[in-house]
Amino acid sequence: MADIIILDRINKFYGNEVVFQVLFDINLSIKSGQFTAFIGPSGSGKSTLLNIIGLLESPTSGKVFLDGQDISRLNKDELAAYRNEKIGFIFQFHYLLPEFTALENILIPYWIGKGRPPGEVVDRALHLMKRIGIEQLGGKYPNQLSGGQQQRVAIARSLINNPKIIFADEPTGNLDSKTSNMVMELLKEIVSENKTTLVMVTHDRDISAGADRMIEIVDGRINFDSAHAD
Ligand SMILES: Nc1ncnc2c1ncn2[C@@H]1O[C@H](COP(=O)(O)OP(=O)(O)OP(=O)(O)O)[C@@H](O)[C@H]1O
Ligand SMILES: [Mg+2]
Repeated sequence: MADIIILDRINKFYGNEVVFQVLFDINLSIKSGQFTAFIGPSGSGKSTLLNIIGLLESPTSGKVFLDGQDISRLNKDELAAYRNEKIGFIFQFHYLLPEFTALENILIPYWIGKGRPPGEVVDRALHLMKRIGIEQLGGKYPNQLSGGQQQRVAIARSLINNPKIIFADEPTGNLDSKTSNMVMELLKEIVSENKTTLVMVTHDRDISAGADRMIEIVDGRINFDSAHAD
């Protein structure tokens, strides 16, 4: 399988007067269609790394290649378009827009990229909602939904553009264990059907144990990588 993600000596510093290095020379390649889990202590740099791979933040030095493309060559608009078309995001707090219904929230990534969704895209949203058991909730607003329901809406939203890669940062972090298992099973099924690459930060040992690959980040460095652990 081809490498869909390649990181070449990624370093990240924060701060101006007092400089603080968060990531140290990270080299990594991830195969298309795999589920990779990042684990590690709080403050070790997991979210920073995920945000850099997901093009939400830029590295201080080093290069990110997604699907063979050197991302540093894209300008701001190209970057936004690339992110919108090819990447899905799921966060610990789902960031649904409160003034839009569940169905509208799911369609937002399409709206942003291409404008009013045609019938087939709305059908796709309805299909996704059915698939994850929230088909009755399309007309509800986020504040009328439970945490698990909101997170399922966020999952459907991350899938609406059929992205090549989904980045998830502790997507089950604020769910109870039963809801968390259900959400994870659904996500894994859907990404495996669509051959989507899934990259997830998690503190949940059961989730990381079920991933194709587990990478532990400690103090901004890769401390363990199950792909190189023979
Ligand atoms: N915007 C920022 N400005 C300055 N420092 C930051 C910024 N974002 C993160 N950091 C620092 O970088 C380090 C890594 O943060 P990061 O959020 O990547 O950790 P994490 O591994 O995701 O932790 P957690 O498990 O608690 O979510 C921390 O010391 C944090 O304080
Ligand atoms: Mg984090």
